[in-house]
Amino acid sequence: MKDKAKTVFICQTCGFRSPKWLGRCPSCGEWNSLVEEVEEVAPAEFSFPPSEALLYRDIQEIKKPRLKIPVEEFNKVLGGGVVLGSLVLIGGEPGIGKSTLLLQVCRDFADQGERVLYISGEESLEQIKLRGDRLGVKDGELYLLAETNMERILVQAEKLQPRVLVLDSVQTVFSAKLSSSPGTISQVREVASEIFRYSKKNQVSSFLIGHITKEGSLAGPKSLEHMVDVVLLFEGERDHSHRVLRALKNRFGPVSELAIFEMASGGLQAIPNPSAFFLKERPADESGSVVVSTIKGTRPLLAEIQALVSPTLFVGNPRRMTIGLDHFRTAMLLAIIERKLGYSFGGEDIYLNVAGGLTIEEPAADLGVVLAVVSCLKNKPLPRDMVVFGEVGLSGEIRSVGSPLSRIKEALSLGFKTVLLPKGGLTLLEKENLPGVRLLGVQNVKESVQFIF
Ligand code: TYD
Ligand code: MG
Repeated sequence: MKDKAKTVFICQTCGFRSPKWLGRCPSCGEWNSLVEEVEEVAPAEFSFPPSEALLYRDIQEIKKPRLKIPVEEFNKVLGGGVVLGSLVLIGGEPGIGKSTLLLQVCRDFADQGERVLYISGEESLEQIKLRGDRLGVKDGELYLLAETNMERILVQAEKLQPRVLVLDSVQTVFSAKLSSSPGTISQVREVASEIFRYSKKNQVSSFLIGHITKEGSLAGPKSLEHMVDVVLLFEGERDHSHRVLRALKNRFGPVSELAIFEMASGGLQAIPNPSAFFLKERPADESGSVVVSTIKGTRPLLAEIQALVSPTLFVGNPRRMTIGLDHFRTAMLLAIIERKLGYSFGGEDIYLNVAGGLTIEEPAADLGVVLAVVSCLKNKPLPRDMVVFGEVGLSGEIRSVGSPLSRIKEALSLGFKTVLLPKGGLTLLEKENLPGVRLLGVQNVKESVQFIF
């Protein structure tokens, strides 16, 4: 009698293995994430010749050749182009525009005379062509393949010998070597490692698209992140047109750069001046609106923080709503305003929002939040040409933040003339030549409020 195939339950989020089903993964705490998979015997594959240990000084330094992506913003995120023979994983929620972005990249590569293979396990060739027509794909060596079987994909790829390969998406493709269904953690891992091997062997730049679960993790996330060379995240609010592309991991460059795109009718357009984009609908001379200079990745970005304070209907339990700002940090700032500025809003609802669907994580926006709330309470607008930044401490003191110079320069380039900033950072800026800008250094929240209002 044939033995029943041995099965194991694997957490689809973190890869934890258990002999029996569990409602909650003891490793990552995720609920209902264990899926029964057939226990696979790892294929003993030693196709590479055994490596020799080398003396450190005998190892030659090689410059990794990079392929420039025609979308300059994309190059920056990758640290100056995609390295030949590298594997890039790009993750994002369904519908955010991953297929569109990568098809655009393929289109531009083909325009440059490169041979490109775009493999889709999700859409038919006709569907992809429909999108391609919208994006203006011209004649070039852009090959499309609708296939979900990894082995067949590799046969096609070996035959075509492309320079660039895109696999859309890792969750829909499966290897016949494993019996578990597509999208399970073993399959996702197997597919990624097959593509990784293929890319290294043939010096092909490969992109792997991965869908992200609603909690924000790549399905089988940790298990893929260490296998690939670069992990990119493509994110944005579905109701807003802008998308942010940034690196989470990069074996060949920094992870600090990010690029901002706008979804338009002809595909994704890079936004060369994001600050202007996010400020373009700012109301003039309205109370409760403050422009802050923040840093996203390494680039400065101006954003508008808006506050609305209104009498509550929920007496004893007023609302505190924040969109785009950290909820706990905002609660702390509201407590500082009450304590240090003598306001009390036990009877008021407070709404805070970052315009345009942006998210600000850094504390440098603290001062902006405080001033937006105070401006709304006093019903007085801030000077129209003013930009602020600074962290607020629990005693109401304004603390210096990183990269003050680039924050100021960004404000200047958009025509702002006054910058309210931490006094502690002023001495550093004294020797800088900043014509046409008034720098107002403040030490605490009280002083900054007196300064403005
Ligand atoms: P898509 O690339 O299919 O998302 P993903 O691969 O991440 O699931 O893009 C989905 C959205 O983009 C879809 O709602 C339509 C929109 N879109 C445009 O607005 N303009 C365009 O030119 C294209 C091609 C798509
Ligand atoms: Mg897609």
